[in-house]
Amino acid sequence: MTAERLTINMNNVPVYDITYNDSFDNLKQFLEGYNADKKKCLIVSDSRVASHYMDAILRVMEGNCKYVTTYIFPEGEASKNLDVVRKIYEKLILEKFDRNDFIAALGGGVTGDMAGFTAATFLRGIDFIQIPTSLLADVDSSIGGKTGVDFDSYKNMVGAFHMPKHVYINTNTISTLDKAQFRSGMGEVTKSALLRDAEFFDWLEENSSRINSFEPEVIKEMIYKCNLIKKDVVEKDPTEKGERALLNLGHTLGHALEKYMEFKLLHGECVSAGTIMASFISFRKGLISQEDHEKIIKVLKLFGLPKVPADIDIERVISYTKNDKKVQDGKVKFILLRSIGEAFISKEVNDEDMAEAMRYYISLDT
Ligand SMILES: NC(=O)c1ccc[n+]([C@@H]2O[C@H](COP(=O)([O-])OP(=O)(O)OC[C@H]3O[C@@H](n4cnc5c(N)ncnc54)[C@H](O)[C@@H]3O)[C@@H](O)[C@H]2O)c1
Repeated sequence: MTAERLTINMNNVPVYDITYNDSFDNLKQFLEGYNADKKKCLIVSDSRVASHYMDAILRVMEGNCKYVTTYIFPEGEASKNLDVVRKIYEKLILEKFDRNDFIAALGGGVTGDMAGFTAATFLRGIDFIQIPTSLLADVDSSIGGKTGVDFDSYKNMVGAFHMPKHVYINTNTISTLDKAQFRSGMGEVTKSALLRDAEFFDWLEENSSRINSFEPEVIKEMIYKCNLIKKDVVEKDPTEKGERALLNLGHTLGHALEKYMEFKLLHGECVSAGTIMASFISFRKGLISQEDHEKIIKVLKLFGLPKVPADIDIERVISYTKNDKKVQDGKVKFILLRSIGEAFISKEVNDEDMAEAMRYYISLDT
């Protein structure tokens, strides 16, 4: 069963807690312990999330902070850029925020990344808290302190490591997420299990129908299991010098596909497709058995795989992997599998391997 709290440490020192809640009410406890009555808070959110949850958050924040104001931007990845960050800086300056004040990121990964980056850079760094609302943000982006924005067509090209003061998960926010967004989050969930925890991967298969029907207790347990994996990886490698790169399983071809498709496929959907391709390459290199590879396809299919157009320009997709931050000494750092539950970094994946994996994915009945 799940705990109500998980602490993320750096060098064995506790840095922040993740708490698991069924509403926004317990936020009050954090705000009291944080002396928020002496601090101003800017709540950053996107248009869709704000329409669902801003009133509820304001009800808790307003009585417990010195002053509360909001900044709402149009939903979607297209907003995750320096122009919007600039507008948030303007708001912070006009409202006379200083180093004692903080930002609350209420939303999915786009909000968390962008509000976190603004907090990392405003006045050389102010506090921020994460209040994730999408499955992807619950299981992945709100934890670990990676913040940033896209630059031109380059994903997450400008960013900073900046740890949140708290991650407040209200697992019930999943109920308003649309199906495609849920599926996108499941791409990161299955990725997490595959890279570290074979038992969890089996658990996902066993519980797939309960997960797909949003059973609250199962969803909560799943989020917690993902957070345990992410905690383990980021504590060992907070600034992605080594092991943390494993979290990029499925992301090399996934990001390239996302860019090729001009972000019409969702991030986690592309990660799922990328994970199948990484599994295929692992199988072709004799690292995993055909049985494991087929099991991976079967389980990922239970949560939905995206369709990739048959006439996709494979060469162009592969060219996008070269612009990625995951390139070192001209070689792509590709994450492969040694088994279900064990991933490793390989520099032995070439363009032909990737092209073959893409052709294979297109041929699948997804
Ligand atoms: N920092 C990291 O470590 C990290 C890790 C993985 C992904 N990311 C980033 O996360 C982003 C993707 O995150 P995302 O999928 O959450 O995107 P998102 O923030 O755009 O949210 C997806 C959509 O769901 C809506 N939404 C969110 N919560 C909702 C809710 N409870 N009810 C109704 N609608 C809701 C949003 O309005 C948006 O339209 C990408 O930019 C990716 O680069 C960051």
